[in-house]
Amino acid sequence: MNRPAMEGVRLNVPAHVKHDRLVTWVAEIAALTGAADVVWCDGTIEEYKRLCDLLVANGTMLRLNPQKRANSFLARSDPSDVARVEDRTFICTERQDDAGPTNNWVAPAEMRELLQTGEKALFKGCMKGRTMYVVPFSMGPLGSHISHIGVELTDSPYVVISMRTMTRMGSPVYDVLGENGHFVPCVHTVGAPLEPGRKDVPWPCNKTKYIVHYPETHEIWSYGSGYGGNALLGKKCFALRIASYMGRTQDWLAEHMLILGVATPAGDKYYVAAAFPSACGKTNFSMLVPPKGYEGWSITTVGEDIAWVKRGANGRLHAINPEAGYFGVAPGTNEHTNPNCMAMLKRDCVFTNVALTDDGDVWWEGMTKEPPAHLIDWQGKDWTPQIAKETGAKAAHPNSRFTVSAIHNPVLDTEWNNPDGVPIDAFLFGGRRSTTVPLVTEARNWTEGVYMAATMGSETTAAIAGQVGVVRRDPFAMIAFAGYNMADYFQHWLNVGGSLAQAGVQQPKIYCVNWFRKSTDGKFIWPGFGENMRVLEWIVGRLEGKAGGVENAFGISPRFEDMRWDGLYFTREQFQNVIGLDRAAWQQELALHEQLFTQLTYHLPDELPATKARIEERFATA
Ligand code: OXD
Ligand code: MN
Repeated sequence: MNRPAMEGVRLNVPAHVKHDRLVTWVAEIAALTGAADVVWCDGTIEEYKRLCDLLVANGTMLRLNPQKRANSFLARSDPSDVARVEDRTFICTERQDDAGPTNNWVAPAEMRELLQTGEKALFKGCMKGRTMYVVPFSMGPLGSHISHIGVELTDSPYVVISMRTMTRMGSPVYDVLGENGHFVPCVHTVGAPLEPGRKDVPWPCNKTKYIVHYPETHEIWSYGSGYGGNALLGKKCFALRIASYMGRTQDWLAEHMLILGVATPAGDKYYVAAAFPSACGKTNFSMLVPPKGYEGWSITTVGEDIAWVKRGANGRLHAINPEAGYFGVAPGTNEHTNPNCMAMLKRDCVFTNVALTDDGDVWWEGMTKEPPAHLIDWQGKDWTPQIAKETGAKAAHPNSRFTVSAIHNPVLDTEWNNPDGVPIDAFLFGGRRSTTVPLVTEARNWTEGVYMAATMGSETTAAIAGQVGVVRRDPFAMIAFAGYNMADYFQHWLNVGGSLAQAGVQQPKIYCVNWFRKSTDGKFIWPGFGENMRVLEWIVGRLEGKAGGVENAFGISPRFEDMRWDGLYFTREQFQNVIGLDRAAWQQELALHEQLFTQLTYHLPDELPATKARIEERFATA
């Protein structure tokens, strides 16, 4: 097939693409965007290398010293394009109530006019002078009954190489798709048409940004950004926003969760899925190294950001990681916080917005105790510790990232690629809270667990454009990622738990955790990182019916003697400061839960205010 698109560009459809609807759509988008040519990506290493060379020639990336980081690159974005833009992210359902009050909503017809059909529609001619790449990808192992396919059309070669690392991308996807398979169409442009004769900039983008989802038709349109979750459309846009909507209608869950395996010295294996907001340590937790005293225990990674959870043949909930790579936050990663990650980043990485050392390696805040004497910062400027002292300039952007294939993870779980997923024994929910929320507490039942997850709050981080460090409610760590009304999402979780119970299948236990409590001098009390193993050990003990705990107003928490302290000096008093529930703080906290419920009043499940009333009663009688 070599159909010309409207403006005469040849489509160059490869012979193995047999899907007419896909070809017609590619032709339509090529015509709409005015792309100069169309390239169908095959996902081969040769293609990857060719595009990396192109990105180096364009000045988007530079090659790092191969002695230090083999086959690795540094990309520097435009300083205005460094994080997800939640205020420019839209859920366009026909009815506003179906998007709900926590999502930005525009009616689909109005949004289509703005992007596609109106006289000044943003996508009209947006790829002029640029190549449009056709990127076929599978979220999850190819052909798994839990996986789904997407095709991203993009004018950014940086997006293409990143999608190759982050997803199962390439020609074999067309075999799964066949002549008529379902795929999620994803259209992405940096929004910077290139006029003839004009030299390109290293990181083209547009001040105007739209990250748009049409959940009812499973479509994604992204305009103006080349960065991360705004542009790699398999990740947040598909695997969370569109997939959560699909999950609701098809009876499964798409969650902002890592998945880890815990192997015990007795030879048992458990799988835990844990939801944390962006930049709250999911990658570190999923690759945790057990501390001294935990010989015989091991932690292995299935996923570090997203989980798709479906019922397995035995009726239990099974999870896959739909991604094939990690797009992790660099600052703070070091040999202490995440040695496995440091080993993973030795080769085949693309770093974005980190600093460059004089010998062609990378550096970021927190990588070493002492910074190098001189660096080139993430904006390409000279940086020294003295300059940092005087101006506060960061060498690496706080949301700088690495992109690396999961296969380089030294503690990758043997089942990470299992098309049937892994059985989930426990769900964890954790925000970043310097006060109020205890180190760990177990929900007495599924409904209380849903309450804990629904009312989660967290201090905002640099992963999102906007103010950092303010507490916001982040239900299920999904505030930015639910593709439908959050109250309906709570109901969906209640329904999933209810149907497990009805089928006589054991529900996973649910825990609320918080690694981030601080003392009055502003220092973290809990050492975190590898020491989080102690909390996991307690959880495994609870799953096995062996570990003790004490009921409190907000679940069941360990007493000091219910956890193992070998190898760590941590006093009873310190423990009390991370586990205790302060009544006055909880009064304020519960008022914030009430505010959330008022905001989500439409379709809010009755079980949630009823659970709140029980918690209040317990506080009153404690
Ligand atoms: C991410 C995020 O990139 O949550 O994973 O922002
Ligand atoms: Mn994330």
